[in-house]
Amino acid sequence: MCGIVGYMGSSGVASILLSGLKCLEYRGYDSAGIAYINDGKLKVTKASGKLENLEKLLTSDRSSLLAVSGIGHTRWATHGVPNDINAHPHFNEDQSIAIVHNGIIENYAFIKEELEGQGFKFNSDTDTEVIVHLLTREYNLEKSMLKAITNTVKQLSGSYALGIISSHQKDTIYAVNHHYSLTLGQGDNEFFLASDIIAVRQYTNKVLRLDQSEIAQITKTDVSLYDFSGRQVKRDFITVDSDPYLINKDGYKHFLLKEIHEQPTILRQTIGKYMAHPTANLDFNIQPEPLANSSKTVAGIHLTKNDIAGIENILILACGTAYHAGMIGKYYLEQLCNIPVNIEIASEVRGRTLLVNEKTLVIAVSQSGETADTIAALTEAKRKGAYTLGITNRSDSHLTRIASNLIITECGVEVSVAATKTYIAQVVSFLMFALYLAQERSSLSQEYINNLKLELHSLPALVETVLANENIIKESSIKYAKANDMVFIGRGINYPTALEGALKLKELSYIHASGYAAGELKHGPIAVLDSSVPVVTILMPGSVYDKTLSNAQEARARNAQMIAVACSNDEKAPKYFDTILAVPPVDELLSPVLAVIPLQLFSYFISDYLGKDVDQPRNLAKSVTVE
Ligand code: G6P
Repeated sequence: MCGIVGYMGSSGVASILLSGLKCLEYRGYDSAGIAYINDGKLKVTKASGKLENLEKLLTSDRSSLLAVSGIGHTRWATHGVPNDINAHPHFNEDQSIAIVHNGIIENYAFIKEELEGQGFKFNSDTDTEVIVHLLTREYNLEKSMLKAITNTVKQLSGSYALGIISSHQKDTIYAVNHHYSLTLGQGDNEFFLASDIIAVRQYTNKVLRLDQSEIAQITKTDVSLYDFSGRQVKRDFITVDSDPYLINKDGYKHFLLKEIHEQPTILRQTIGKYMAHPTANLDFNIQPEPLANSSKTVAGIHLTKNDIAGIENILILACGTAYHAGMIGKYYLEQLCNIPVNIEIASEVRGRTLLVNEKTLVIAVSQSGETADTIAALTEAKRKGAYTLGITNRSDSHLTRIASNLIITECGVEVSVAATKTYIAQVVSFLMFALYLAQERSSLSQEYINNLKLELHSLPALVETVLANENIIKESSIKYAKANDMVFIGRGINYPTALEGALKLKELSYIHASGYAAGELKHGPIAVLDSSVPVVTILMPGSVYDKTLSNAQEARARNAQMIAVACSNDEKAPKYFDTILAVPPVDELLSPVLAVIPLQLFSYFISDYLGKDVDQPRNLAKSVTVE
C-alpha cells in the first residue's frame, strides 16, 4: 500500500528518493512520483506503473539530481484510477506546495465542495488533493507553513501520514503522522523520512518514529517535533544496532522462494526465543525490544497469574493470512486451555458493538502491525477495558504501541506480498502462548506440556525434510497450472490450512480457488466439481483423518482431480489420490505448520510457471493501511 519517502540534506535528491521508494515497492503500488525544490522552484515528476517509468523520466532531468530536498510516493489507488494525474505528489495551482499522502481523508467530499466554492480548482479524483488546497488557503492567511499545517490537520478526519514540501520555505520539509507510521533517520547534516524503517535503515541507524498526531519540521541540521496544537515536543533519535532490515534475495529467483526456505530458521528463532530448549520453561517476559523507537513499547507478556486465571473468554482479530493463523490459534486455546475463543475478521468488527470486557483477552494478529482494520478493532477493545495482546513481526509498528502485551515473531522483513514465513511463526506463537496459559491455569498435565514442547523443537527439522523434496513438489504442481478453479478442503485444525492453501494460490497465480471445511463440501461446493477441477485435501493424521478421507471420496466420485497433502507413511492415501504432496509424520497439533509448506510451494511453482509477478501480485498490497 502507499509509501512515503522524504529527504533533506545536501546530495542528489532523486537517487535517494528513488532508492527509498524501491525499498517500499514490496508494499504494493500502481504509480509513483517525487517533488523537489531546485533553484527555488518546486518541481513534480510522476508516472503510473512501475518505478522504472519514474526513473526514466528522472534520468533525463538534471535538476532532480542537483536538488537537496524532496518528497516521494508510491500510490496504491483508493480514490481514482491509477494514472499520472491521480499519482502523488499533488500540488497547488501556483506550484508552491506539494504533498504526498498515505491513508484516507474521510471528510474530503465535504471539504472539496467548500474549497471549490471558494474558487480552488481540482485536477485529480483523489481525496488527497483537498489537503494541498487547504494548506494553500491556510498559508495565505498565516504566512507560515507550520501554522498552515496545524490549521489544516484540525480540519481533516481519518488516519493519515503526509510529506509536505513548499517553495515558501525552501530549506525545510514537513512530515505529519496521524494514526499512521512514519520514521525519520538522521545522517550527517541530512535527514531521511519513510513510511517504513527499511527505507531509512539503508542510510543510517539513528531513527525516530513519529508518535500519533505529530508534526516534524525537518531542516538539514535539525528536526523539531510539534503536536497538533503547535506545541513543541521533545524526543531524541535512538540508535538501532540490530539489523533485521537488510533485504536481498540471497541467490533465490524470488523473495517468496527465499522466504519459504527461511522457515526452518525462523521456527528455530521464534521457538528458541521463548523456550531455549525443550525442557526449559516458556518465558514470554523477555526484555523490551531496543527497536521501540517511539515513546512506549512493551515486549513480552505482562499478565499476572491472577490476570490469566481470571480470563473468561478470548477474542482474536486479524485479516488475510493472519486470520488463518488466528483460526489455528482459536483451536489451540480452546483445546489446551479450555477457554471459549471467538475470532473475527477485523474489518467485520467496524460498526458493531464489540462484546468484550475486563475479563476478555483480545489478541490482534498482524504481520505488519499496520493493518488499519486490525488496529482500529484492537483500539476499541482496549478502550473497553479488555486485556490486549499483539502478535506481530514488526516491533516498530503501530500495533506494538497499542497492545499491552506483545509476542514478536522473529522473521526478519517479509518482502514478498504473499505471507509465508510470518504465518508459520504466528501459528507456533499461538501454540506456545496456549501452552503458557495452560501451564498457568493448570489446564493440562505437565507431562502433556513437556511432550508437546519436545515435538515443537523437532518441527524445524521436519520442515527441512519437506523443503528437501522441493523438486518433486514442483513437478507435481505444474501439472495443475492450467486449471481455472481449484477447491481446497480440510477439517478441524487443518480447515484453516485449506483456506490458506486456497488464498496462496489465488494471490500468486490468479487461479480462482476456494477453501472449505471438508464436511461442508456436500452442502453446496460439490456442485462445482467435475473432471476439470482439482481438489486439494489436507489429510493429516489424527482425530478427523477418516472423516476427511470420506469427504475426499465424495469429490473423487465426481471425477475431480485428486491431490492430497498427506504423511509420507500414509498407506491409504495413494489409493485415492492422483498426486500426493508428502510431509513427514507429525502430531496432529503441529500438522498445520507442516501441511502448509507444500501448499506454499505448490502455489509458488504454478505462479512462476505461468509467468506471474510472484513477489508483487497484481492489485495486492503488503501493508493494508486503509480500512
Ligand atoms: C494483506 C497482505 C496479506 C496479509 C493481510 C493482513 O492483504 O497481502 O498477505 O495477510 O494483508 O496483513 P497483516 O500485516 O495484518 O498480517
